[in-house]
Amino acid sequence: ELKDNTVIVVLGASGDLAKKKTHRNQFLPNDIKIIGYARTKMDHEEYIRRVKSYIKTPTKEMEDQLETFVGLCSYISGQYDQDESFINLRKHLEHVEGDRKEQNRVFYMALPPSVFIPVSEHLKRNCYPKKGITRLIVEKPFGKDLDSSRKLQKALEPNWSEDEVFRIDHYLGKEMVKNILILRFANEFFGATWNRNHISNVQVSFKEPFGTEGRGGYFDEFGIIRDVMQNHLLQVLTLLAMERPISFSAEDIRDEKVRVLRGIEAIEPKDVIIGQYKESPDGYKPGYKQDDTVPKDSRCPTFCALACYIKNERWDGVPFILKAGKALNEQKTEIRIQFKDVTSAIFKNRPRNELVVRVQPNESIYIKMNSKLPGLSMQTVATELDLTYRRRFSDLKIPEAYESLILDALKGDHSNFVRDDELDASWRIFTPLLHYLDDNKEIIPMEYPYGRQSHDITKMSVFKFDNL
Ligand code: BG6
Repeated sequence: ELKDNTVIVVLGASGDLAKKKTHRNQFLPNDIKIIGYARTKMDHEEYIRRVKSYIKTPTKEMEDQLETFVGLCSYISGQYDQDESFINLRKHLEHVEGDRKEQNRVFYMALPPSVFIPVSEHLKRNCYPKKGITRLIVEKPFGKDLDSSRKLQKALEPNWSEDEVFRIDHYLGKEMVKNILILRFANEFFGATWNRNHISNVQVSFKEPFGTEGRGGYFDEFGIIRDVMQNHLLQVLTLLAMERPISFSAEDIRDEKVRVLRGIEAIEPKDVIIGQYKESPDGYKPGYKQDDTVPKDSRCPTFCALACYIKNERWDGVPFILKAGKALNEQKTEIRIQFKDVTSAIFKNRPRNELVVRVQPNESIYIKMNSKLPGLSMQTVATELDLTYRRRFSDLKIPEAYESLILDALKGDHSNFVRDDELDASWRIFTPLLHYLDDNKEIIPMEYPYGRQSHDITKMSVFKFDNL
């Protein structure tokens, strides 16, 4: 249920996430208040000015909505490791809450990993309400490998119950990602063919046309595998591969996700390609190492393509290929399910069926299929069954991922958040590879020019995936 009278405290309110993903939320419950908290010293006016600058308001109506929205916001600065700062935060909370009988508080931690543990302890000690509902939304990075993730988890456990914790992976809030289970389990023709007998391979790819500009400090320590693959792309893969849940309740869904994750073998270095972008051919876009926040000898991957395998009856032998890269030619996240070739006797060299789910931009689902070319001949043509959202659902607004997830957290719905054992299982798949890449100094990512197409990069590599 949606609790009125909630206060959301955004810790790390001056960081990159707050810049890129701050927006008005039209569905916010009544009487909500938002407090920004970070180290940067600034007054109320300055904070409001910044919040406004991140939100686009093309119409007068949206401008008015923005005014109402900033009326809910306030800011206080403080340290991440001092009681005094958090006592201050509590006083500010009490001030904002007035004399409510219940204090419902949501703490949104968008923080550097180094302060994660102290902040969660201080929040518990100094800001935990006596009466009311408390929720802790946790942003990535949640650890760097299996051990560090377990350590963070251990630090949370004494203070926060699993019920109170919402580990966010914003890909789980995207419309098309939320649609995967419906597509699979509410359509008999997909359900019936969704296995190794009919599917040749599954691909999930993420492309961005920009580099790490200004975020090199964070990125260099993590790299593309930790930044988007171990979390966002693996989550998509999990939804594509899991078995039918008993119900759509959060725990039934997450039980199945954990089960399939445990069946995925640890990724082997031989199935992996890594790359790092260099300057664009026209010299206009800088290479990764030209970023001032990046060490000159960085071996950090900004591109990766890898194959993983699931040892179960449904998927044995089917490669799941994940590709992710920064500084490529375009922005696109997409899922491709490639079906097997049809029996060849009457059809020679017909393209395979393919189900494509375009997660972003311009959401759509289409199936590549063969059809008769209209006319007197029996010629065959490759065509598409196309569900483009902009055309089919032109009146509906697709919510932002964060919008949808924050509402879920306010309602207490964990379905689209990552459970502790799920996170553990996902780190297990990637940790041996990550250690291998970190420890072997002689492994240097292949260079690719800023703006390159991702299949060019996979072609440049010595290793080729099966079936592609
Ligand atoms: C974040 C990564 O989690 O996801 C970023 O840290 C990446 O590097 C971003 O750019 C992509 O999210 P979206 O919603 O823009 O596809």
